Amino acid sequence: GTQYEMIKKDLAGEKKNVGVIHLNRPKALNALCRQLMTELSQALTEYENDASIGAIVITGNEKAFAAGADIKEMMGNTYAECIIGNFLADWTKVSNVRKPTIAAVNGYALGGGCELAMMCDIIYAGDKAKFGQPEIAIGTIPGAGGSQRLTRVIGKSKAMEMCLTGNMITAEEAERTGMVSKIFPADQLLNEAVKLGEKISSHSPLTVALCKEAVNVAYETTLQEGLRFERRTFHATFSTKDQKEGMKAFSEKRAPNFTSE
Ligand code: CAA
Repeated sequence: GTQYEMIKKDLAGEKKNVGVIHLNRPKALNALCRQLMTELSQALTEYENDASIGAIVITGNEKAFAAGADIKEMMGNTYAECIIGNFLADWTKVSNVRKPTIAAVNGYALGGGCELAMMCDIIYAGDKAKFGQPEIAIGTIPGAGGSQRLTRVIGKSKAMEMCLTGNMITAEEAERTGMVSKIFPADQLLNEAVKLGEKISSHSPLTVALCKEAVNVAYETTLQEGLRFERRTFHATFSTKDQKEGMKAFSEKRAPNFTSE
């Protein structure tokens, strides 16, 4: 496989069907430099193309999930360079992966680190996790969804407060607002995220992909369009063998055997 320097990949779960990506630049608190993001996109693409993988977990270490975009790398950027290079546009791979993604956040998730977590489908947090958008303190603003996704997730008042003060919130606050779905002791976090990935992987990958797409439409369109998309996608599941198998297995009181057809 590909050689990585700033991330590590390994397969987890009893059936090795959960693809884990460890952000691995600990000396810089996993600051998300260009090379790290390129490697992350590459690793995501590999898991996406690997039929044995049903879900993907992205994690960091106990001190930091990621402390943001790499300040030292970007500090000299000119406006023209940002435009010509479409700075940060290459981060979108994370939100476009078709398989479910789980962020397992211990420690700091700041700036681009918080944005990266929010690009994932589900966030699990360790009890010491801290989330923040501190860009304001260094003369810039969130650039990878912080002002947009955060506002949709936790509401305007809290998002404004975080983006305008740069203050961090705790794992408990993040859970209370719905940004994080569950909190675990730090040393159990990754294991719990993998268990979640295994549960998702036990379902039909085909149906899971459709379901993920449907939930995401809720973020991107009006309710009316979203409901129409959902209903038609629901109808489409009836063209799959997995729907026939799933309902047959239920009526025969046995476990389904999904084939993604
Ligand atoms: N970029 C580059 N390097 C970073 C970094 C970042 N975002 N965050 C931390 N580092 C580096 C530090 O420079 C330091 O390197 P050296 O040892 O070479 O000096 C190393 O990681 C350890 O960091 P600290 O010594 O600062 O560790 P600490 O425990 O004292 O503080 C912290 C931890 C509060 C997270 C602090 O590191 C910090 O405030 N980091 C920056 C957070 C930030 O502003 N993030 C937003 C970036 S902008 C952005 O992300 C834009 C966007 O929307 C995409």
